Amino acid sequence: MTDMNGKVALVTGASRGIGAATARAFAEAGAKVALVARSGDAIAEIAGEIGPDAAIAIPCDISRYWEVRAAIDACVKTFGGLDVLVNNAGVIEPISHLATSDPDGWGQAIDINLKGVFHGMRAAIPVMRETGGGTILTISSGAAHRPIEAWSHYCASKAGVAMLTRCADEEERGNGLRVMGLSPGTVATEMQREIKASGVNPVSELDWSDHIPPEWPARALLWLCGPDGDAYLGEEISLRDEEIRRRIGLSQ
Ligand SMILES: NC(=O)c1ccc[n+]([C@@H]2O[C@H](COP(=O)([O-])OP(=O)(O)OC[C@H]3O[C@@H](n4cnc5c(N)ncnc54)[C@H](OP(=O)(O)O)[C@@H]3O)[C@@H](O)[C@H]2O)c1
Repeated sequence: MTDMNGKVALVTGASRGIGAATARAFAEAGAKVALVARSGDAIAEIAGEIGPDAAIAIPCDISRYWEVRAAIDACVKTFGGLDVLVNNAGVIEPISHLATSDPDGWGQAIDINLKGVFHGMRAAIPVMRETGGGTILTISSGAAHRPIEAWSHYCASKAGVAMLTRCADEEERGNGLRVMGLSPGTVATEMQREIKASGVNPVSELDWSDHIPPEWPARALLWLCGPDGDAYLGEEISLRDEEIRRRIGLSQ
């Protein structure tokens, strides 16, 4: 396991699912963790379980730049720095065909999934540059690279995030920043419940047992923070890839 002692990580979307598992995994590896999400009670509870010296909860809507900036400032003030930003928060709703989609809802998904990641990068990069480096991780998806029915907002936002990841690497690798993406495959979280409930497209027809547990992407994100991640700067790794799973220690 990557040793995160002395490191500080901020995880967005830490109130449940992949983000909550990631906050716990990073804390177990020794990191101080800042948990960010809109549900203040949920992140406060998880931070309390992790322990008051090791975790803080920062309620924040990542679609608003000033809130993200304030969250990163609060993290730096509390723990003295920022070594890792996990840009995990995201939404799948509103699931809808383009022809009938609600323009405001479509835009809100872009504000969270794409602009929210930009907001995290924009606020974190100057802080990381000042301290000589850091790691920025984004969560990609198969939907970044192929169209899926009724997910135009999600596909477009994840395609944008994949390119943002490459742009951030292009500009910041020389400044000591490590920027990478993780495509987890399908994960047993609230997001998959919403997808199942929609009844639209083949993803909604998957069995619950087809999904991997959120602890797997959490371990992969932790692994990317270690030296093994250096081979993937500016790229994304896929947890569907057996070789990657083996390297991370998720399979034999
Ligand atoms: N599950 C999958 O199969 C799958 C596959 C590929 C990629 N992903 C990606 O993995 C990431 C995590 O998804 P998940 O499956 O763990 O979903 P989830 O269980 O629905 O969790 C989503 C998280 O994002 C947070 N969030 C949503 N909007 C936010 C906002 N405006 N500001 C701050 N936080 C916000 C939610 O917290 P609040 O509601 O409390 O704000 C929650 O903590 C997403 O980027 C998703 O696209 C998931």
